[in-house]
Amino acid sequence: DGTLRGVVAVDGPSGTGKSTTARGLAMRLDARYLDTGAMYRAVTLAVLRAGLPVDEAATASDGDDDVVAVALGARVSVSTDPAEPRVRLDGEDVDAEIRGTEVTTAVSAVSALTAVRAHLVAEQRRIVDEALADGAGIVVEGRDIGTVVLPDAGLKVFLTASELVRAGRRDAENTAAGRAGAPDTQADLARRDRLDSSRAASPLRAAEDAVEVDTSTLDIEGVLARLQHLAEDRGLVT
Ligand code: DC
Repeated sequence: DGTLRGVVAVDGPSGTGKSTTARGLAMRLDARYLDTGAMYRAVTLAVLRAGLPVDEAATASDGDDDVVAVALGARVSVSTDPAEPRVRLDGEDVDAEIRGTEVTTAVSAVSALTAVRAHLVAEQRRIVDEALADGAGIVVEGRDIGTVVLPDAGLKVFLTASELVRAGRRDAENTAAGRAGAPDTQADLARRDRLDSSRAASPLRAAEDAVEVDTSTLDIEGVLARLQHLAEDRGLVT
C-alpha cells in the first residue's frame, strides 16, 4: 500500500469512526498513530482520581486552578504504534479505564481549560516532531489537529456522520467492551458536541482546507480507501 510521509490530521466529532479510521490508515501506510483524545481522557482520569469535582461552569471560565494543577502534573505517555496504541498515567496502563462512563462524562469540561490544552498541544507537537525526525509518517486524530495543533499537515480530513449513526456506533463500542450502555448515548453525544463546539479554546470545527468525509453510509474499507487516495493525491505516499 505504500508508506506515509508527513502528517495526516483526522478531526471530527465522536462516533464518526475517527479512531478506527486514523488507526487503520496508519496500519495500512506503515505510519505512526496518535490519539489525542486519549491524552485528554488520561488527564481527566487523573483529575477524577484526585477526587476533584469537575464542574462545567468553573472549567468554562478557566477558574479551576486545582483541576489545572492536577492535569498539568499528570504523567501521561502514549505509544504511537498503531498495532498497539497504549496510554499510561503515571506508568499504569489506563487504556480501558479512560473509555469508561466517568471519564467520558467529565472529559469535555477538562479539555475546555486553556492551560490543559496548551500543555497537551505542546506534547502532541513534540510526539509528531519525534516521529518525523525518525523518518516516519504519522496520522493524528482529535478535534483541533488541522486547525490548531498541526495547521501545516499535508492532509486534513474532517469526518462527519449523522447523529443517529454516531450514537449507534458508540453503543456498539460500549457493548463490545462489556460496558453497560450509558443511559442515553445520543443525548450524551449531543451534550459533548455542544461543549466541544462552543468552548472558547480551540472549538471543534473543520479547517478551511480540510476535506470533509461523511461516513454515515461508508464502511471502514470505504473510508480508508478514500483517505488513502487523498494522501496519494497530495504526494504523501511513497
Ligand atoms: O475522541 P475522544 O472521544 O476520545 O475525545 C475525548 C474528548 O477529548 C472529547 O470530548 C473532546 C476532547 N478532545 C479535544 O478537546 N481535543 C482533541 N484534540 C481531542 C479530544
